[in-house]
Amino acid sequence: MQAISDLDLYHLAMEEPWFAADPVPEFDKARARHPWLATSNLGHVITHYPVVREMFANEERMRTSFDEMVEFMGAEGTPWGSFQHRHILNQSGPEHKRLRDTLALAFTPREANRHRDLMRATIAELLDEWAPKGRFDFEEFASWFPITVQCRMIGAPTEAIGSLRSSLEALGLSANMDKSVLEAMQEGTRIMTDFSAALIDAREAVRQPEDDNDLLDVLLEVKRQGKLTRQEMIDLLIFLFVAGYDTSKNILTLTMFEMVRHPDIYARCAEDVGYCAKVVDEIMRFHGTTNTMRITTQDFVHRDVLIPAGTTLWFPWAIIGRDPAATPGAERFNPDRERVQAHVGFALGGHMCLGQWIARAQIAEGLHQIAKRIVRPTSTGPEGWRPFPGVWGIRGLPIEFEPA
Ligand code: HEM
Repeated sequence: MQAISDLDLYHLAMEEPWFAADPVPEFDKARARHPWLATSNLGHVITHYPVVREMFANEERMRTSFDEMVEFMGAEGTPWGSFQHRHILNQSGPEHKRLRDTLALAFTPREANRHRDLMRATIAELLDEWAPKGRFDFEEFASWFPITVQCRMIGAPTEAIGSLRSSLEALGLSANMDKSVLEAMQEGTRIMTDFSAALIDAREAVRQPEDDNDLLDVLLEVKRQGKLTRQEMIDLLIFLFVAGYDTSKNILTLTMFEMVRHPDIYARCAEDVGYCAKVVDEIMRFHGTTNTMRITTQDFVHRDVLIPAGTTLWFPWAIIGRDPAATPGAERFNPDRERVQAHVGFALGGHMCLGQWIARAQIAEGLHQIAKRIVRPTSTGPEGWRPFPGVWGIRGLPIEFEPA
């Protein structure tokens, strides 16, 4: 048995822009040095798909780690810092279960399917506005879709979308550990807090106990029963916006990035929304968007390596599906592949993405309509990349196409 600190591990420069632009070869080099572990300036990194699963089969040995992030950022007692301490992903045990149970019924596959008409109408309106242009930045286009869907799902005024969008752009950088964006994240938290509080007040003023129209009504009923405080409800609304915004935008943009390279697959997407669902699943394996960390809460031995309590472990959900151990031919983008194991783009364990069915439905419906209206897209590049830790993805994807 060896202590983790005694291992000779490959260093992954995860925070560097060149790393974000092409992380896969770096993970291959890391696995050539050690089968499942690498180091980085931000902590150790699990590089092997089976070990990610093994770690989450024993996830009681780890906890989520926003407290350390707030300390690192020097943001104790600030709006952004306090929100990071309170939100659902930073909770564990009964507190986490209570918050998750509150949301769970509104996030089933059935509920997600109920919103498909709304998703279709939203993307159609956006395409009416954008498609005639013939060329635009696809990332910017994609950013309006999830936020508009989310506002409509909770009956929020859509005039607010512009200011929410810039707040969410800032808050999407929360896990990047970048102090230069702290002030923008504080402002974003203030705007999102005021928006959520006003939304609650406006609905509470008109709501009848029997109303059960949308997620906001569901949460207000739990609050009326005394099982959710006003502050918790505000935090949940902010978290849902943050969790659903740039993740969905980035997956849609990464999808277009691949579709430009695979015109035959893209053409099939225009014909068949069921096939779009397969494409989205394959994108989530090939190019996910979220990489998160855990802190170990006890000493334990894994595959003969001693990992002490207090160790930071990164889980690269976005890229771990490219490990050859995840699936045969892992390096090839292929929506028709036989799925040996599910992708882990929505994470694993107790915090696994609650919004995954909404995200899947939204991106598949979006892709289907986009493929019908944005014909033969080509990338006029160059595209940029967001930092790898936290919410990774493409920053700017200029395209040219034939409007249909
Ligand atoms: C493609 C889009 C999305 C991706 C890739 C994604 C990814 C993830 C991942 C990886 C986690 C777990 C993080 C961790 O364990 O450290 C997570 C959690 C979560 N996501 Fe998503 N997400 C997406 C869309 C959404 C949407 C649309 C919503 C809601 C509207 C949402 C709500 C949540 C919530 C509430 C959690 C926390 C669950 C908990 O702590 O129990 N997500 N997401």
